[in-house]
Amino acid sequence: MTAPKGTFDTLPPDSARFLAVRDTLTAPLRRAGYGYVETPVFEDTAVFSRGVGESTDVVSKEMYTFSDRGGRSLTLRPELTAGLMRAFIEHRLHDGALPVKLWSVGSAFRYERPQAGRYRHFTQVDMEALGTDDPALDAEVVALGVQGFRDLGLTDFELQLTSLGDSTCRPQYRELLVAYLDKLDLDEETRRRAAINPLRVLDDKRSEVQAQLGDAPLMVDHLSDSTKAHYDAVRQHLTDLGVTWVEAPRLVRGLDYYTKTTFEFVHNGLGAQSAIGGGGRYDGLSAALGGPDVSGIGYAVGVDRTMLAVQAEGLDIGVSAGVQAFVVPLGAEAKRLAVKLVGQLRQAGVAADTVYGDRGLKGSMKAADRSGASHIVVIGDRDLAQGVGQLKDMSTGDQVAVPVGELFERLRESVGA
Ligand code: HAM
Repeated sequence: MTAPKGTFDTLPPDSARFLAVRDTLTAPLRRAGYGYVETPVFEDTAVFSRGVGESTDVVSKEMYTFSDRGGRSLTLRPELTAGLMRAFIEHRLHDGALPVKLWSVGSAFRYERPQAGRYRHFTQVDMEALGTDDPALDAEVVALGVQGFRDLGLTDFELQLTSLGDSTCRPQYRELLVAYLDKLDLDEETRRRAAINPLRVLDDKRSEVQAQLGDAPLMVDHLSDSTKAHYDAVRQHLTDLGVTWVEAPRLVRGLDYYTKTTFEFVHNGLGAQSAIGGGGRYDGLSAALGGPDVSGIGYAVGVDRTMLAVQAEGLDIGVSAGVQAFVVPLGAEAKRLAVKLVGQLRQAGVAADTVYGDRGLKGSMKAADRSGASHIVVIGDRDLAQGVGQLKDMSTGDQVAVPVGELFERLRESVGA
């Protein structure tokens, strides 16, 4: 048996790196007053079909949808935003102080064609700031995303930023774009896509399509006064926060709910799947899910892709340091002592381990070596007869006999706990 297509297992020692990357990405959120939320990994299908948008690939082609035994249509979440918004509405968080700042981390599922950096099961760190459309909040959100990557030591990435307008200007722009696309030589399939969401054509990767789009109208050139002022303020705050960006007027995200500020974090060392994170404002999402008319902005970072970026830049993050102390017993009586000693050390907060099973002297010393411990105690039968164990400092190679009754304290002191 193997893991299902497009999925993988994360095992030690890589898993230590995974945890370190995940926790580094969430630390800036915790420092900025965002509260942790858990929602189910499956939701009623309508949460995504209404929230993410029927015209998107994510909803129309990539969802893991199934009927449960009660005949309900449920879907494994393809992203976390719609579920968080559902919870925000259900628990009437909008009645409290705004903005409500939330974060979450967990599995997402999309039935995509697997390739490097694109999986059917992956992990996202997600954050959302709900209930206020203050441009300073947009800047906070974007800057927190940048901070997470910086804290990992990443440098070879860029922030792509644009504004997708809102209901005051996007409908007119859409008409302009549709009129422009009408005159082009496009195949039927592309025309169908254009009819559902013309913006998506701007993102078409094929050269024969791109060649015709040179002077296509762009949303940023057709923003209403208020949306333009909002975007200008966001950029002003970002400059104040020391965040640099690249204007990306053709950025089209894979989800339909975006309005105004929209962005992606792109890493240069990853090939085709280069987006390590992305997000934006989604002022209509709450209403689409039957909630009040509240705005929101947030982003999600792909933890698995960020791991690949960390590797691509050769960063040494989350390499497991192993244990601090290791006890090697030789003989049955020593074994009892070793198990007890390791238990005491762990209770005192020292990372400690011993050998299990009959490993013999050679095997046990190998295990001690591999454990990464800075201090090792070897307890042989002859030592035990004299009431001592041998304490070895692995960095200097020094070895001293220590009375059994003092081993715990001496080990604790030696590792600095
Ligand atoms: P998204 O751009 O669809 O946005 O996904 C965010 C990130 O998740 C991507 O940049 C990528 O790193 C990672 N990701 C997406 N699909 C896969 C996959 N198949 N395999 C591996 N990694 C993947 C969202 O999901 C929005 N909910 C973000 C958001 C939050 N917008 C507002 N708030």
